[in-house]
Amino acid sequence: MTALTLSTAGAATLRADALVVGVAKGPKGPLAAAGAEAVDAAYAGKLAAVLEALGASGSEGEITKLPAPDGFKVPVVLAVGLGTLPDEDESYDEEVLRRAAGAAARALHGAKKAAFALPLDDASAVTAVAEGALLGAYAFTAYQGGEKKGSKNAGPKLPLAEIALLGAKPRDKDHKAAAERASIVAAEVNIARDLVNTPPNDLTPEAFAAVASAAAKENGIKVQVLDEKALVKGGYGGIMGVGKGSENPPRLVKLSYTHAKAEKTLAFVGKGITYDSGGISLKPAGHNETMKCDMAGAAAVFAAVVAAAKLGLQVNVTGWLALAENMPSGSATKPGDVLRMYSGKTVEVLNTDAEGRLVLGDALTKASEDNPDAIIDVATLTGAMVMALGDRTFGIMANDDAFRTSIHEIAEEVGEASWPMPLPADLRKSMDSPTADIANMGVRMGGGLVAGLFLQEFVGEGITWAHLDIAGPAFHEGAPHGYTPKGGTGSAVRTLVRLAERTATGDLG
Ligand code: BES
Ligand code: MN
Ligand code: ZN
Repeated sequence: MTALTLSTAGAATLRADALVVGVAKGPKGPLAAAGAEAVDAAYAGKLAAVLEALGASGSEGEITKLPAPDGFKVPVVLAVGLGTLPDEDESYDEEVLRRAAGAAARALHGAKKAAFALPLDDASAVTAVAEGALLGAYAFTAYQGGEKKGSKNAGPKLPLAEIALLGAKPRDKDHKAAAERASIVAAEVNIARDLVNTPPNDLTPEAFAAVASAAAKENGIKVQVLDEKALVKGGYGGIMGVGKGSENPPRLVKLSYTHAKAEKTLAFVGKGITYDSGGISLKPAGHNETMKCDMAGAAAVFAAVVAAAKLGLQVNVTGWLALAENMPSGSATKPGDVLRMYSGKTVEVLNTDAEGRLVLGDALTKASEDNPDAIIDVATLTGAMVMALGDRTFGIMANDDAFRTSIHEIAEEVGEASWPMPLPADLRKSMDSPTADIANMGVRMGGGLVAGLFLQEFVGEGITWAHLDIAGPAFHEGAPHGYTPKGGTGSAVRTLVRLAERTATGDLG
């Protein structure tokens, strides 16, 4: 894990492998941003001209490397684009800073230490730059090297080991708190990424439950794990129905973070399909290579509960991880089977690939028993949501318009792209079943909303609920950008943490 420090050293005196400065897009060409003063002075006020000569424009995410001026204790200066220069009385947008810091940290993979001298107007800019740098520094290296330890391989380089933020004030309590919060949140986002990236032969439901239990114990979080015997005994027909085709049996994990002075309780529920083959309704090749990511919702929930504990938030947060592996076998659920859910409702399974709603249905009913102030589920639930919103934006559905709006605003605030989606009641009848209370599949058009309507039936009466379908942004297959790496992204962690913070302070909009 990358270490972060606030340093009072000057840009010219700090010893590091690189110095990061910002370059904005001015009306007549690139402009050196605040933080780059020492470098600019050493270049006799011509840093912008030097950058322009090197082809820099200041556009977002652009990376330009130049030799450090004489006397500096770093070999290179790395200028990262900040996009259009804000108006004189405005600051850089937090997400712009977060992405720029992330792009710079990514460009420095393999280096040991970098100093970041980006514009830091206030404490929220400190959080943004710190978070972006720590998220951009991330690399998944757990499976590298092997027998050839020490030999050169084609895999990703090690993450930047140390980041020093220049220009922040280590003795200012707001700046200190901003950096601490960023370190905790980024560390947990990176843990969610690690879990998503871990191959499914190693991250079985049992292994995930063990990771969650260990982290819970370390952070004073109460943990309960229901194994397959307890799930059968307890009548969890949805979770068992999905998990019973696999050699790796399912688990339901409950994590309870409580604060003595908490006034509110949030329940987070995560879809944790450690591998989604589709089951008997097997996915074709081309659709199953990335399905280790199908536990990203559970990873986000786990990470958010741990972050809430580490931040000591004055709110109770319960996390539910609905863990199962969806496999075809002689013992697997078949299309046509009817399952009796934990709620008592019967479900005709028409497609075993619509398994997320089955495990979530049970977890939602169980979570409702505690009567929390709100339930938020997070799931890589439908390909239809990816069709609708693309691969960077998650969909938000809810049984309460104001709550859906709040979550959308919170996501925006932390830099996670999302969009409100409806739950049109007329789509419900497409899930009518001749044999059971409901089928696990309805019409294909609006499939993400159909899935949302299915989940809604398992939420306890009168409980505020929102559903985040992160099937698009959870796993990034394209080239890395900003602070987003290839593979697991940690989608929704920051939104859940901010929601918990806002609930703790009674500031939900
Ligand atoms: N895990 C998938 C959804 C998914 C698709 C996640 C792409 C990430 C990327 C889910 O279990 C699934 O298979 N959904 C089906 C539902 C259908 C059978 C009703 C889908 O979306 O095709
Ligand atoms: Mn599926
Ligand atoms: Zn799935």
